[in-house]
Amino acid sequence: MKIKNICCIGAGYVGGPTMAVIALKCPEIKVTVVDLNKERIAAWNDPDVNNIPIFEPGLSDVVAKARNKNLFFSTDVDKAIREAEMIFISVNTPTKTYGSGKGYAADLKYIEGCARQIAKVATDDKIIVEKSTLPVRTAEAIRDILSNTGNGVNFQILSNPEFLAEGSAVDNLLTPDRVLIGGDNSPKGQEAVQALVDIYANWIDRKKLLTTNVWSSELSKLTANAFLAQRISSINAMSEICEQTGADVTEVARAIGSDSRIGPKFLKASVGFGGSCFQKDILNLVYIARSYGLNEVADYWEQVIIMNNHQRTRFAKNIVKTLYNTVSGKKIAFFGWAFKKDTNDTRESAAIYVADLLLEEQAQISVYDPKVTAEQIYADLDYLNTRSSEENRRLVNVVQNPYEAAEGAHAIAVLTEWGEFREYNYQDIYTKMQKPAFVFDGRSILAADRLKEIGYKMQVIGK
Ligand code: UDX
Ligand code: UDX
Repeated sequence: MKIKNICCIGAGYVGGPTMAVIALKCPEIKVTVVDLNKERIAAWNDPDVNNIPIFEPGLSDVVAKARNKNLFFSTDVDKAIREAEMIFISVNTPTKTYGSGKGYAADLKYIEGCARQIAKVATDDKIIVEKSTLPVRTAEAIRDILSNTGNGVNFQILSNPEFLAEGSAVDNLLTPDRVLIGGDNSPKGQEAVQALVDIYANWIDRKKLLTTNVWSSELSKLTANAFLAQRISSINAMSEICEQTGADVTEVARAIGSDSRIGPKFLKASVGFGGSCFQKDILNLVYIARSYGLNEVADYWEQVIIMNNHQRTRFAKNIVKTLYNTVSGKKIAFFGWAFKKDTNDTRESAAIYVADLLLEEQAQISVYDPKVTAEQIYADLDYLNTRSSEENRRLVNVVQNPYEAAEGAHAIAVLTEWGEFREYNYQDIYTKMQKPAFVFDGRSILAADRLKEIGYKMQVIGK
């Protein structure tokens, strides 16, 4: 079966880049990305490709090449569904904030909404591709909704989890380690799997296109993220031991990373992992395990989250302790707000939680991030509901320049590993700060020895 029209529901960090790359690499396929959010679609259609709603290195160029040739962004969801032979679902699946499974389970209301809309609109056979990260067996629920329409339309459900990391999404999509496609074992199911394999084979070696059943595919995604997050919590746990014992966590990471069985990646100690996936996916795994009565399994994975929360909290508490047990009325400069470098995404960023704790201690925070807007920063703090929105605006100031952020500050806290943070004139910054001038490097990226020579008092995670 040859696919000529693809529709993707959800023009976010996953749907947008993924569809842009498919369109670029498959010029004969028409790709339409739809979203309920009109402003988001308008931004994707902005004549200046630098204004697309997502910042990802290289993405604007890809969009510039494909947009309005075979890549379209639209709010007409029904039309795009009707035209497409293959529909990707790439809407968000936040952790439930109400009812049973609150705080753990994924909220599937948007997924269900998509399935119902497809069921209502479709007049011919469709392949539905789950791109959102979902609990195991969600495909079955989607299938249930779709197969009860009674209009004779045949639906095949595939699981095709994304493994792209923000900040390197375009590279990850162009040269992935692997692409995973899960489908039914039936002849129709295998035909659908093959249709998706043929799309990716336009630019990816077939050896890297792994096929499996739907449930293994769904669970593999949760497992991959749980393992990655677990490595970070493991090295972060060691960072605290290093700080107490005089060991250096970068040295420990280098030593263990040279063991080919362990490998060097994902061993950077930090102020804690963030992002839309790690916490959510582990909570999901914990929920699934508990719901099958597997309490030891659930506790095991939950500890990864507990360790991550601890890492953020202890970073913030250490700032308070070091600044003579009070930060009340003291200005603290935040370098970075995004959950990692090279993205404007702030979901679950450690910076939010560190700020919240310092604000409880009545600190004045001045934030500089190269890509995150002031509006987003206030929205993140307001969302926590710890204090009023007016209070957040009174205590937090967002500036366009790092020197302004540090002016008159008692301390700089590095929350994101943006490359430009290494390049500043720290001599100049030092003269403008209160003395003693402290730096809390939560990413271990600054040249600590040089900064100490200038006169800074340095505190680096894991050292
Ligand atoms: C989301 C999930 O967070 C992630 O777990 C999953 O793997 C992929 O989908 P992301 O693309 O980063 O990732 O989310 P987001 O940037 O929030 O984009 C989702 C988009 O879907 C939003 O633009 C939202 O407006 C849209 N949406 C949501 C719809 O168009 N229809 C809906 O019913 C719900
Ligand atoms: C992750 C997965 O990597 C990706 O495969 C999946 O599809 C989505 O979730 P993402 O959240 O975009 O991607 O970014 P990632 O690079 O994994 O970083 C997640 C968090 O971990 C960031 O806050 C990052 O700063 C932190 N991190 C990462 C560390 O603290 N130390 C490390 O060694 C690596």
